[in-house]
Amino acid sequence: MPMPKIWSFGSINADHAYRVPHIPAPGETIAAREYSLGLGGKGANQSVAAAKAGATVAHVGLIGPEGLWAKERLAALGVDTQHIMQSATPTGHAIITVDETGENAITIFPGANRAFADAQLQALATEARPGDLLILQNETNLQAEAARIAVKQGLTVLYSAAPFSAQATSEVLPHISLLLLNEIEAAQLNAAVGTLPSGITVVVTKGSSGADWTSPDQTLHCPVFPVKPVDTTGAGDTFAGYLAAAIAEGQSPEAAMRLASAAAALKVTRKGTADAIPSRAEVDAFLASV
Ligand code: RIB
Repeated sequence: MPMPKIWSFGSINADHAYRVPHIPAPGETIAAREYSLGLGGKGANQSVAAAKAGATVAHVGLIGPEGLWAKERLAALGVDTQHIMQSATPTGHAIITVDETGENAITIFPGANRAFADAQLQALATEARPGDLLILQNETNLQAEAARIAVKQGLTVLYSAAPFSAQATSEVLPHISLLLLNEIEAAQLNAAVGTLPSGITVVVTKGSSGADWTSPDQTLHCPVFPVKPVDTTGAGDTFAGYLAAAIAEGQSPEAAMRLASAAAALKVTRKGTADAIPSRAEVDAFLASV
C-alpha cells in the first residue's frame, strides 16, 4: 500500500535573517553582525521538513509576482510545487533577528499568504485521497476552510496553532485530529478557548523540557536532545514536518515524537530556516549516536 501523501497548506516567506548581539529593545537601534536571505515561512518549512523526512509532500501556497525563486527552492528541496500559484500580492516575508543564544524575534509581512481565495483550495477537494494528511498553521487565511475540505475528503488534519490567533484556532479546532503547540501557545489557547474538542491529540513542545503527547488513549513525554543552540528559527516547523512524516509512515507515537525531537534539535544547531532543516539520514545518524 502506498504511503499517504502529505498536503501542506501554508505560508511561503522570504526570510531576512539578522544576527545581532541581542534582540533590540523598544526604541533601540543596533547593527547586525551577519545577514542572510533564504526560504522560510512556517508552511514552507513544514513542507521541507516532511519532504526531508522522506514523505511525499504537495504544497498548496501563494507567492507574489516576484516569488518564483521560492517555488524553485521548494522544488529543489523535494516538495511538489504544482499547486503553488502566483497572485498580484507580493510574496510574504519575515524579518528575523537572532541573538547570540540562538533565540529569535520575528515580524512577518503576510503578503500573498493571506490572499487565498476558495479556488486555490481546489486541489485539496479533487486530488487529495482518503488516508492522506493535511498539515497547516496560522500564517495564511482560509485555514478552517482547508481543514473542512480535507476532513470531507477523508484526510487526517494536523494543525500548528502558530502564530497564535484565538479566532483562527477556534475556527480550525472542530476539524483537526492533532494540535501542535509550544508552551506559550498552549497557555494562550487555554486562556482563549478553555476546553478542547474531545478525541483530538495534543502535542506540546516545551523547549529544553522536551515534548508531551496526549491522545485519548495515551500520554507520553519525549525528553529533549541536549544541543548547543545556534539558531532556534524553524525548530517548531521542523518538529511538525517530521512528526507528520512519521505519522504518515505509521510510526508509533513514541517513535514519531523521538524522530521529530531529534530533527528539531539538529535544526537548532544550524543557522537559517528551510535550507537548514536536516535530512532523514542526518537525523537517523544523530539518533544512532545518542
Ligand atoms: O517558524 C519560523 C518561520 O516563521 C520563519 O521561517 C518565518 O518566515 C516565519 O514564518
